[in-house]
Amino acid sequence: MTKISKRLKAIVEFVDKKDSIVDVGCDHGLLSIYLVENELCKKVIASDINQNALNSAIANIKKRNMNIETILSDGIENISLKGINTLVISGMGTSTILHILSNDSKIKNIKKLLIQSNNDHEYLRRSLNDKGFYLEDESYVLDKGKWYVTCKFIRSDKINSLKELKYGFLNNSEYNDYLVMSERKIYKRIPWTSIRSKLKALKKLRAIKKAISEK
Ligand SMILES: C[S@@+](CC[C@H](N)C(=O)[O-])C[C@H]1O[C@@H](n2cnc3c(N)ncnc32)[C@H](O)[C@@H]1O
Repeated sequence: MTKISKRLKAIVEFVDKKDSIVDVGCDHGLLSIYLVENELCKKVIASDINQNALNSAIANIKKRNMNIETILSDGIENISLKGINTLVISGMGTSTILHILSNDSKIKNIKKLLIQSNNDHEYLRRSLNDKGFYLEDESYVLDKGKWYVTCKFIRSDKINSLKELKYGFLNNSEYNDYLVMSERKIYKRIPWTSIRSKLKALKKLRAIKKAISEK
């Protein structure tokens, strides 16, 4: 049986049996393999921009005698999304993710996005909400000392609250503590001689504490 990291399992938690998925930037292909091996969805296509990464996915798929389509592609450029309703994009930065999702007409039939971005979660949430994807759920896992945020967006005109867009769901007290600690670290690092930045950081720290206390 294929083993996957805690971080990838967090994505699996948001996958449904009816999903037909493209795993964009599949690298080793382990997520795609895990989903097919455990019959967790209808279909998966594994794709990557990098031939070496895709070769490693192909080798992992072959080793297990499985049948998973693999495609070399920058984002979804070379992939027909006919019959696909879900995109998984993980292990990249928000700007790359938004670039991949920039072709609105190509993704018009995509109903679900499962995204694990390395950075700029607020910008990611805002941009995707603007594009007609509603943040329906979010989970937080600590894997090998690092926190990972997994976002589940569904196609909908619904607008997330400003608080959700800014901070996510704030439903994991350990992750909330980490958010406060990160803001406190930033605040402490700024010298009082940079008074504007210091006060800005203090405002941010207070805002996150307030948002958490109101949950
Ligand atoms: C850090 S790995 C993450 C792999 C896997 N998704 C995961 O979460 O474990 C990032 C992968 O994304 C691929 N990638 C980066 N930019 C891409 C793009 N524009 N289109 C497709 N794949 C891309 C890289 O080649 C690499 O294999």
